[in-house]
Amino acid sequence: QEPIWIGMLGLGTVGGGTLHILQSRAEDITRRLGRPVKVKKVLVRNLQKPRSVPVDAELLTDNPADILADPEISIVVEVMGGIHPALDYLETALKAGKNVVTANKDLMAVHGQQLFDLAAAKELDVEFEASVAGGIPIIRPLKICLAGNRIEVIKGIINGTTNFILSKMTSEGSDFADVLKEAQELGYAEADPTADVEGLDAARKLAILASIGFNSRVTLDQVYVEGITGITARDIEYAQQLGYTIKLLGIAKESEGQVEARVHPAMIPSQHPLATVQDAFNAIFVKGDAVGETMFYGRGAGDLPTGSAVVGDIIDVARNIINGHTGRIACTCYHEKRVKPIGQ
Ligand code: NDP
Ligand code: HSE
Repeated sequence: QEPIWIGMLGLGTVGGGTLHILQSRAEDITRRLGRPVKVKKVLVRNLQKPRSVPVDAELLTDNPADILADPEISIVVEVMGGIHPALDYLETALKAGKNVVTANKDLMAVHGQQLFDLAAAKELDVEFEASVAGGIPIIRPLKICLAGNRIEVIKGIINGTTNFILSKMTSEGSDFADVLKEAQELGYAEADPTADVEGLDAARKLAILASIGFNSRVTLDQVYVEGITGITARDIEYAQQLGYTIKLLGIAKESEGQVEARVHPAMIPSQHPLATVQDAFNAIFVKGDAVGETMFYGRGAGDLPTGSAVVGDIIDVARNIINGHTGRIACTCYHEKRVKPIGQ
């Protein structure tokens, strides 16, 4: 059968994990969909760079038009990061009638609505499950499974790098700079790790989650942000002596008609489930008025966990293409401004 053709923008940590899963699960994906899903081209910066997955040289390109202008490609998977040129490429893709899957929270936190509007006009899908909490399903649960609730609170650990750093500083007394380097080598950190350690990456994710959860447009500048660079070994030791563990938390809640969203280090009782989250794992509590408390836990960063979320989106979009259903479910609920977010 004619494959569903994909073009990938990027083949780093997440792109490598995504390609590996698409290759290793190819038969199962074909069985699920009744049609194969195949990668036609992958855009990279450096064609000579060694890759983490086996890849034929002819699959790689450094010319975005090989993907964006190819009429056979119906899904563009953006795993390159940053705002420009990623935004320009995705706008071009949507205008050319291609569906989009992205892991890019920088882009979705600030320009998500722009992409949703373009997609809606052409009845296309924009999926972004991997943009928050790596492999943990959280966007779709908030958007669909919990849509019958009035969400009261979304809170938790939504940055793997800082949790990795704080965990190692707490359990092994490791040095901040050494552990950050380790997190970078493991592929957890952003290209510019300042975004992780200063809390900006968590703030982007919180803006996305709060916008969906509270059915309101919560923008990045409305999120109070404080990172972990001011946390010393002595802070961690004193907290431990008092029975607390320091974690970087993202907290968004709605009370009295206002949404409050903040990211900052917090002292958590050491027996609390959030205090026991180690390594680059993430954990998110969501409280809804009907469902009560729910918790989502798993690997928040890394190649295969994040690739898992990207491939889930690809299969979903491919199924919509096959059934002629793309664009049928609104990408998200950013249009309604029901509450006035407060920040700083
Ligand atoms: P990497 O830096 O590992 O990979 C980026 C890839 O994109 C590389 O292959 C690079 O090419 C390519 N690329 C970057 N800029 C350009 C450009 N201008 N033109 C062509 N190719 C380009 O990033 P990650 O895989 O870690 O992250 C990708 C995205 O996923 C980001 O948005 C990130 O925030 C998000 N994300 C990352 C997670 C993680 O655990 N790392 C988890 C969840 C989301 P080349 O290889 O030739 O340099
Ligand atoms: N740099 C991010 C983190 C990657 O450490 O959580 C996952 O979004």
